Amino acid sequence: MVLDKKEPFVVQGRLFTPLDQREVDEHLYYDDGFLVVGVDGRILSVGPKLPEEYAQNQVHRTRHLIAPGFVDAHVHYPQLPVMASYGTSLLEWLDRYTFPEETRYGDRSYAGSRATKFLKLSLERGVTSAAIFSTIHDVALEALQASNHDLGLNLVSGITGMDRGAPDSLSVDIVAFKDINEKAIETSRGLERFSYAITPRFALSCSEEMLDYCGQLLESDQSLLMQTHINETEDEILATSALFPRASDYLDVYASFGLLGSRSLFAHGIHNTETEYDRWAESGASVIHCPTSNTFLGSGLFDADGYVSRGINVGLGSDVGGGFSLNPFVTMAEAYKVAKLRGKVLDPLRLMYWHTLGGAKAIHQHDSIGSLEPGKYADFCLIDITSDEVGSELWERAATVREKLFSLMFFMPDSKNRVVATFTDGALRWQDEIQSDL
Ligand code: GUN
Ligand code: ZN
Repeated sequence: MVLDKKEPFVVQGRLFTPLDQREVDEHLYYDDGFLVVGVDGRILSVGPKLPEEYAQNQVHRTRHLIAPGFVDAHVHYPQLPVMASYGTSLLEWLDRYTFPEETRYGDRSYAGSRATKFLKLSLERGVTSAAIFSTIHDVALEALQASNHDLGLNLVSGITGMDRGAPDSLSVDIVAFKDINEKAIETSRGLERFSYAITPRFALSCSEEMLDYCGQLLESDQSLLMQTHINETEDEILATSALFPRASDYLDVYASFGLLGSRSLFAHGIHNTETEYDRWAESGASVIHCPTSNTFLGSGLFDADGYVSRGINVGLGSDVGGGFSLNPFVTMAEAYKVAKLRGKVLDPLRLMYWHTLGGAKAIHQHDSIGSLEPGKYADFCLIDITSDEVGSELWERAATVREKLFSLMFFMPDSKNRVVATFTDGALRWQDEIQSDL
């Protein structure tokens, strides 16, 4: 169908959304629900009945599940080509595969083609928002922003700060970094659905001067976010404490430069001390759990309880290329497996929450994205639950919503992508020509 954006339109079908309540398993599920999308791309209504006032509007009935778009809260767009690089752990993987590839993003046209590919693959998997690492190059961030102009995702990104521990081609001195970063912040201000994140890569690639500058910037401009990595591997932690001998632990390195606060997103956080967990909780910072990366690189097993028991907000990230998939269902399944290896069970409703509202909270946008609720952006996807015989049987047999969602996380025949259409701002951004019934 052609969606008429001059009038509100309605999508009717099975509908699931988490809700931002006190308990993360609060949600709505309807076997036959109605999502009404306004001309401004915002949600007008969600519920089991179509409000009278929209009775004359275009209704599209779908056999697919209507769900909020996913938030990939930690991912590196330049790392698609180094996904599935064999046989290393974090620090060696960075040197051997990642840094050489990232060096190529100083070339605007290469960066542009990779950015478009990356954003399309994300949309095709139902990702509508992403907190993205770029590279040190201004043109790499510009390329990402330009590619997104026609694709319409909601993005968070920034210049990836590095001034040591990397090849010269990826390092700049602090004067140059300030210049590139500040210009990038200015050009980003005018962009729709783009938020700037100060992005010191991690302590090992940043001088004290660079971290100090990042902290001052974060303090001086409340509209900025900050994203980085922490406590991912034992080697990295040892090297960090050698480089910052005055810091009491890894979190203290960031805290001492003013980088620990409610607008901070820290990826991984696997090997925290108790002190770090407690200080983290006090700060209001979010953790982004990246399970496919943690198992692929052998970094360790995330302790969900350490965060949940302290009320720390959790988002989920693919962390491609350390992670091996952009598919949110793969990420959620891997998070489930990681918890299982620690002898714990993760509720599928919690996993869905983390990958939608949890991510939205991390980027301070839970008032406008992350669930299907009136007033929020109509960022949603359609998930195929019927075209595969086994998959649809699993869905039908599952007695509860919790179990139904779980079947989506674990049943992907031949790595099939089960998302068949993705919308942002109420506009169709991608559909699977065969399976989509739009
Ligand atoms: N720590 C610093 N840089 C990176 C990166 O690119 N990927 C991962 N997984 N960890 C990092
Ligand atoms: Zn990362």
